[in-house]
Amino acid sequence: MKTLVTGCAGFIGCHLVDKLLEQGYEVLGIYFFTDYYTRELKETNLSNALKNNNFKLIEEDILEMDKFPDVDYVFHLAAQAGVRAS
Ligand SMILES: NC(=O)c1ccc[n+]([C@@H]2O[C@H](COP(=O)([O-])OP(=O)(O)OC[C@H]3O[C@@H](n4cnc5c(N)ncnc54)[C@H](O)[C@@H]3O)[C@@H](O)[C@H]2O)c1
Repeated sequence: MKTLVTGCAGFIGCHLVDKLLEQGYEVLGIYFFTDYYTRELKETNLSNALKNNNFKLIEEDILEMDKFPDVDYVFHLAAQAGVRAS
C-alpha cells in the first residue's frame, strides 16, 4: 500500500512516517524546508525514514504542485505552525 504524507518532517508527520514504515507501508513524504525551522532539525526528524528503502522524500511546496502521486492514502499535515506566522 502506498501512502502520501505532507509535512512529513514535521513534529507529527515524522512520527507518522516512522509508524507507517514500521507497518510495511510505502511512504512518499512531501516536505518544504521553510525558514521557520532549521533544516538540520527537520533532517533529524527524518533520520530513520531516510534509511528506509520504502521512503521517498519529495522536496516541494504543496502550493506549487499541480499534480500529486497516485497513492492509496493521503495524510495531510503540512501547515504553517504558530499563530502569528500563520
Ligand atoms: N503539534 C501539535 O501539538 C498539534 C496539535 C493539533 C493540531 N496540529 C496540526 O497538525 C498539523 C501538523 O502539525 P506539526 O506540529 O507536525 O507542525 P510542523 O510545523 O512541525 O510540521 C508541518 C510542516 O509542514 C511544512 N510545510 C508548511 N507549508 C508547506 C508547504 N506549502 N508545502 C510543503 N510542506 C509545508 C512545514 O515546513 C512544517 O515543518 C498542523 O496542521 C497542525 O495545526 C498540531
